[in-house]
Amino acid sequence: MKTIAVIGSNMVDLISYTERMPKEGETLEAPSFKMGCGGKGANQAVAAAKLGADVVMVTKVGDDMFADNTIRNFQSYGINTQYVSKEPQTSSGVAPIFVSPTSQNSILIIKGANEFLKPADIDKAERTLVECSLIVLQLEVPLETVYAAIEFGNKHNIPVLLNPAPAVPELDIEYACRCDFFVPNETELEILVNKPVETVEQIKEAAMILLNKGLNNIIVTMGEKGAIWLSKDGKDVFIEPTQVNAMDTSGAGDAFIGCFSHYFMQTHDVQLSLEKASLFAAFSVTEKGTQFSYPSIEQFEEFETKHTK
Ligand code: RIB
Repeated sequence: MKTIAVIGSNMVDLISYTERMPKEGETLEAPSFKMGCGGKGANQAVAAAKLGADVVMVTKVGDDMFADNTIRNFQSYGINTQYVSKEPQTSSGVAPIFVSPTSQNSILIIKGANEFLKPADIDKAERTLVECSLIVLQLEVPLETVYAAIEFGNKHNIPVLLNPAPAVPELDIEYACRCDFFVPNETELEILVNKPVETVEQIKEAAMILLNKGLNNIIVTMGEKGAIWLSKDGKDVFIEPTQVNAMDTSGAGDAFIGCFSHYFMQTHDVQLSLEKASLFAAFSVTEKGTQFSYPSIEQFEEFETKHTK
């Protein structure tokens, strides 16, 4: 069986559904709250696992009340937790998230133990990682670890997908060029190229700037505007969005990446995998929460039948 390795973050999501953000010095009542397991790496791992992928997670939890729950959560989806370790005297990563009435999210991250995921943790997992068929990365762990994972993938001929989230302006684009897929959303793209990304045309222009630096494939997720895929060998594909009634967009980008990774492993068909990913992410915004909002394979297939022309 092909295994996906997610080397990255996990967080505890503390999601407040708000009417508006409080002003400085103001105490404001918010209508509701949800707590769940999150973190971009963990979300991507769970999304893929819910679809049936074999997933191994390399991550660090803290030394606190959240740690065992996070590990149990991975295990409940069948994710291999052999390389999920506890960092002593450190808190787990947490993410206060605010969701507006228009379903848009604002996220703060406190990395906690994620800050301690180091290249040595990749070395420790080497025996399992060499057998993997895809390495999936994000930027909620130290850049040195991300670079080491890219080097590992290159050395062992394992394709690498890098989701540059959250955007880190210091990201060395040379490393991004050593990945097979570079998958920012439009906000991350804007930060990386420092150009406006209001229209699809502008997004494409910004993506071209990065592509011309030597990326293999850039996939830009654009939320309700769909997604675009541009490649070194001339692919220019627009993935139509699926119209849904959005409740909460938190974790939708991760849903997209986890689903894409799963179908890409199965089919090696990038366009088909992007179409599936776009639908999976659309499903996720119709429910509240991050991982809570990801459909099971049965729910996804039903949704797909309903929304595919
Ligand atoms: O992409 C959504 C995720 O970003 C949340 O689950 C939160 O934990 C932050 O990592």
